[in-house]
Amino acid sequence: MQDKVVVITGGASGIGAGMAQRFCQEGARVLIADTNRDAGERHAAELGCQFMSHDVASEQSWQTLAQQVRAGYGQLDALMNNAGIVSNQSIEDATLETWQALLDINVTGMMLGCRTAIALMRDNPGDMGGAIVNTASSTSYLALPGDAAYSTSKAAVVGLTKSVAVHCAREKLNIRVNSIHPGATLTNILRSALDDAPELEQAFNAMSPMGRMGTVEEVAALALFLASDEAGFCTGGQFPVEGGTVSLHPGM
Ligand SMILES: NC(=O)c1ccc[n+]([C@@H]2O[C@H](COP(=O)([O-])OP(=O)(O)OC[C@H]3O[C@@H](n4cnc5c(N)ncnc54)[C@H](O)[C@@H]3O)[C@@H](O)[C@H]2O)c1
Repeated sequence: MQDKVVVITGGASGIGAGMAQRFCQEGARVLIADTNRDAGERHAAELGCQFMSHDVASEQSWQTLAQQVRAGYGQLDALMNNAGIVSNQSIEDATLETWQALLDINVTGMMLGCRTAIALMRDNPGDMGGAIVNTASSTSYLALPGDAAYSTSKAAVVGLTKSVAVHCAREKLNIRVNSIHPGATLTNILRSALDDAPELEQAFNAMSPMGRMGTVEEVAALALFLASDEAGFCTGGQFPVEGGTVSLHPGM
């Protein structure tokens, strides 16, 4: 990834922060794009990379990001479409406001990210192409009864990823698009749930037959592979990083 330009949404915290650290270690020029300015600026300063305040749900914000990437770097090699939120609302509790706010970030935000990245990558020098990695979840396959919007959004990311991937392949754009599917990974999203109900830690550990949660470093390593030229024939794929969670028969 030496000198490659990588944009990471949600890079101020958790999995995205882990990706930023790993890509920087590999020599990439990283732009962290996040709504959390304090955490984003702090993490970028620690890593020696750049931060921009960015809302993935805003088309205007993506236009600004594209201008900044063109002016500051002149190319885009990889987009980690990673920002996401939870709602903690079952279908019976779901409010339209929360439902739409979540889908705006978790689905529409990823669509806008893909569209922006492709427009930038089309203009990359030579035939460089690029890679897009969409952060989905084991929840793409196994639903959460307590979060209808999140479960819906992460299933939708699979369809979006496949459509964008085959479009890019057919257009001979040399842009690869894949989704990654973390299982329970100890980040702020899970910490907020654990603060309310510490007994959930055991349940999160038990989701995987390995008996533990994943780490942000493990998720970042998969994202790094998919962003790199080593993954040259991988597109439209769904890549699990969940310790066997979806392979385990639920009753066993
Ligand atoms: N932690 C897990 O167990 C787990 C499992 C599967 C998938 N995921 C997915 O991984 C991704 C990262 O989650 P995480 O666990 O690191 O959570 P996190 O809360 O630690 O990080 C999410 C980041 O996204 C940012 N963000 C939120 N809304 C945004 C917006 N509108 N625009 C830009 N940035 C925004 C937040 O400020 C935060 O920095 C999410 O898509 C999440 O759904 C997490």
